[in-house]
Amino acid sequence: MVTKSNVGMDVDLGGIAMRNPVNTASGTFGNGRQFEGFYDVGSTLGAITCKGVAAEPWKGNPVPRIAELGGSAILNSVGLQNPGVKEFVRQYGTYLQGLRDKGCAVICQVAGHSVEEYVRAMDLFEELAPFASGFEINISCPNIAAGGAAMGATPQSAAGVMRAVRGHTKRPVVVKMAPRDVAEIGRALESEGADALALINTIPGMSIDVRTRRSKVCRPTAGVSGPAIHAIAVRMVWECAQAVGIPICGIGGISTVDDAAEMILAGATAVSVGTANLYDPTVAARIVRGLEQWASEQGVSHVRELIGAFEC
Ligand SMILES: Cc1cc2nc3c(=O)[nH]c(=O)nc-3n(C[C@H](O)[C@H](O)[C@H](O)COP(=O)(O)O)c2cc1C
Repeated sequence: MVTKSNVGMDVDLGGIAMRNPVNTASGTFGNGRQFEGFYDVGSTLGAITCKGVAAEPWKGNPVPRIAELGGSAILNSVGLQNPGVKEFVRQYGTYLQGLRDKGCAVICQVAGHSVEEYVRAMDLFEELAPFASGFEINISCPNIAAGGAAMGATPQSAAGVMRAVRGHTKRPVVVKMAPRDVAEIGRALESEGADALALINTIPGMSIDVRTRRSKVCRPTAGVSGPAIHAIAVRMVWECAQAVGIPICGIGGISTVDDAAEMILAGATAVSVGTANLYDPTVAARIVRGLEQWASEQGVSHVRELIGAFEC
């Protein structure tokens, strides 16, 4: 019989109090409600991160949006389809408040095509979403003024988004980073007042159907995610953790307890389970239990003692 350990598992992700380090990655967990048939989300997870939402609805890309690749990865080009903040709150506000009431943190993800759009979305969230424990700014959204390059493609542009939203909320702000220049961009975000960083987003990739000679998704290039990217994500979390003093949520290919533990040893305070939720809907709940067991086996009294405890 597995007995409950006495190891402390609560963590603080830049002001977002989490009962345990396990979060879910934006866009891979619905907004929590879709997984209620599998386990009680609110009394199990440390946090959930909602799908990115903009001030106004976005239609997203045409189908096909997702292709399974060999080698434990998928390619996606969803294009941040979302109903806009008002409709998101109408559909999910009561459910998400219920998660908060059960002790699960709720992180609302903010999307925009320009600095002004992020600010507008943030203002709407501030007005309409009292249930949000904090916000995550997705700086991988395409910047229309820069011909579609990511809003956070350079330290200057990433810092510009952070600087603009900082004055519009007092709640904690996490920034979701693309897999590029994570040390330099992480430092720029920290200096503009980011409370925490989340990394990594999907890695740009390409997959061609050799019979039709067409992309397997609706665009030539799209985002690769899943277990195949895990080692790259661990390296980037480790590099970023050396460069910044704010907490990090480690994301990328987490599908086992060991994957989550690796992220913590590399310097992550929390971890988000992403693509694995899509093919194994109870995986995040199992990782919650397994992480506690791992920490207990490591002989610590609190999981915090293991953050960044990697030794070369
Ligand atoms: C279908 C799908 C939708 C996603 N939607 C978002 C999103 O709205 N915002 C975001 O920041 N990341 C989004 N992501 C990226 C994930 O949150 C995560 O950063 C990435 O998939 C890497 O983690 P994983 O390998 O565990 O999936 C999405 C990923 C997938 C597969």
